[in-house]
Amino acid sequence: MALIPSRPSSSEAPNLGRRQFMNLLTFGAVTGVALGALYPVVRYFIPPREAGLSGGALALDELGNPIAANGWLASHPEGDRSLVQGLKGDPTCLIVEGQGAIGAIGIHAICTHLGCVVPWNSGENKFICPCHGSQYDPEGAVVRGPAPLPRAMAHVAVAGERVQLNPWSEIDPRAGGKPWWS
Ligand code: FES
Repeated sequence: MALIPSRPSSSEAPNLGRRQFMNLLTFGAVTGVALGALYPVVRYFIPPREAGLSGGALALDELGNPIAANGWLASHPEGDRSLVQGLKGDPTCLIVEGQGAIGAIGIHAICTHLGCVVPWNSGENKFICPCHGSQYDPEGAVVRGPAPLPRAMAHVAVAGERVQLNPWSEIDPRAGGKPWWS
């Protein structure tokens, strides 16, 4: 009477390997089919990226909809500096220039003193902060404190109806140095 289990015969060992191989093959096929079926579902829930927006953002209105350049120009007169939602959703003034064009520079609307939103005062031709009276010229440079710094800037690019804001990392032309905000 033999108590030691017998070793698989030489004909069983290849069968086990073949079974494992078939299991692996089946698992791979099922996984591939499942991933293939899930891909369009996952893509459906991921919002598409806007082409050409690397680091930039479309200018949005107060409801979060992209503004249309022609519509904006039709409702904002020359010299206007109304607000849009810009980079990171920050309020940013678009400048309407002569000949119905949106200027290439956007001015961040946040006061560099304590962070109030600074409206444009067309009668005074300045931005005047309602909190502590700082004043900025039409390009956002300080003309009266206590604001210590000019307001941040962004590039504005108009392509067809799209108005896009891009980060400003070059020299600040108003102060002549590296921008404090980048
Ligand atoms: Fe604008 Fe103080 S927050 S002057």
